[in-house]
Amino acid sequence: MELIPGFCICVLLSLTLAPASATELTSNATGWVWEGGAVSLYCSTQLTNASFIWHVDGDLLPGGDQYHIFVDPLGPNSTLTISPVFRNNTGSYTCFAYNSTLNETSNALNLSVAKPPSNPSIYCRSDGYTEQVLLGCFWAGGQPSADVKLSFNGTVKEGKDEVTWTVSLDYEVRQPELVCQGDQLGKTSECKIVFERPLSSSHNNNAVTSVTEGENPKLIVTLNTPNSLNPTFSWFHLNPDPVAITSGGKFKVESGDSQSSLLISNVAQSENGTYECRARNIIGSTTFKLNLEVKSQESSGSSRLSRGAIAGIVIGVVAGVALIVVVGYFLVKKVF
Ligand SMILES: *[C@@H]1O[C@H](CO)[C@@H](O)[C@H](O)[C@H]1NC(C)=O
Ligand SMILES: *[C@@H]1O[C@H](CO)[C@@H](O)[C@H](O)[C@H]1NC(C)=O
Ligand SMILES: *[C@@H]1O[C@H](CO)[C@@H](O)[C@H](O)[C@H]1NC(C)=O
Ligand SMILES: *[C@@H]1O[C@H](CO)[C@@H](O)[C@H](O)[C@H]1NC(C)=O
Ligand SMILES: *[C@@H]1O[C@H](CO)[C@@H](O)[C@H](O)[C@H]1NC(C)=O
Repeated sequence: MELIPGFCICVLLSLTLAPASATELTSNATGWVWEGGAVSLYCSTQLTNASFIWHVDGDLLPGGDQYHIFVDPLGPNSTLTISPVFRNNTGSYTCFAYNSTLNETSNALNLSVAKPPSNPSIYCRSDGYTEQVLLGCFWAGGQPSADVKLSFNGTVKEGKDEVTWTVSLDYEVRQPELVCQGDQLGKTSECKIVFERPLSSSHNNNAVTSVTEGENPKLIVTLNTPNSLNPTFSWFHLNPDPVAITSGGKFKVESGDSQSSLLISNVAQSENGTYECRARNIIGSTTFKLNLEVKSQESSGSSRLSRGAIAGIVIGVVAGVALIVVVGYFLVKKVF
């Protein structure tokens, strides 16, 4: 290949005459710098025998151990390393290069300091109330704020830091799963809560509670669904058709988030039989059976005497004593 002299001269001229963007500021970080990390700003200049002064937001650099300035004795440049970087290092940086005759301010470089959210992972939460459930995705404290996405039952809600959604318990839920997704500067996190209908692994539908009439039996259902979404409980006595039981009179129903009990005071034999406790939430319902055996006092315990027998004995004893007293009285009367 043959060189064209004119072309070469032209290239040389354009290189030397290129408007030397005289003082230039660059950085080894593009975009955000993580708090606690380090960043270096490089200032290079065309000025000979130059000295440098660093500025942030138009002011001289504040003093501090985290600023490390290095001036290269061989080249006309200066490096500012900030280590560790704090949030308060956010700002617009420039470098001022000068010599005895000339001076020049560099382009400005914006430093943005990022901070991860307070928790390393996003947090899923659900709080059940009587008629609604509050769903939430939390990943706050980040700088910039994390993008948070909440998905439930086919609906997606988006926000920054946290997203909450109050769902009415009146409606059916097709996808009983809360999914939270977070994204901060490309760093992602996800959590999930799968909701279930109320369940109890310990409950035995065939178990029988045996009591004697007059006692106060308490029938209890304890759920162990981890996320049962605020169940409601209702009680029935199968007679054989279910008859609803509510608190009042002999019955006392007490229900919490994961337990319900039915207390029967002074139980009668007519209250013998099978009871049902139905636990329901927006996902579905489960029916638990509780069998109550109420024994009459006569039949309960073969060694014990019935009330009638005891009464008979007492009357017999009293009559006997009375007889002795009467006989004694006559005997005494006869002697004196
Ligand atoms: C920039 O350079 C400094 C020092 O050379 C180094 O400690 C730091 O990790 C670098 N920062 C980035 C964001 O690459
Ligand atoms: C460079 O600057 C220093 C003062 O900052 C001066 O003493 C020295 O003579 C200068 N050298 C040249 C080659 O201009
Ligand atoms: C920035 O914050 C750090 C720690 O919070 C502190 O040590 C430092 O002095 C602060 N720097 C400035 C310029 O305020
Ligand atoms: C920078 O140079 C200008 C002339 O170009 C001069 O007026 C000015 O005082 C100089 N500034 C400093 C800080 O040396
Ligand atoms: C769940 O989604 C179904 C289908 O879109 C809808 O009919 C139902 O009302 C939703 N349930 C809730 C609690 O939003």
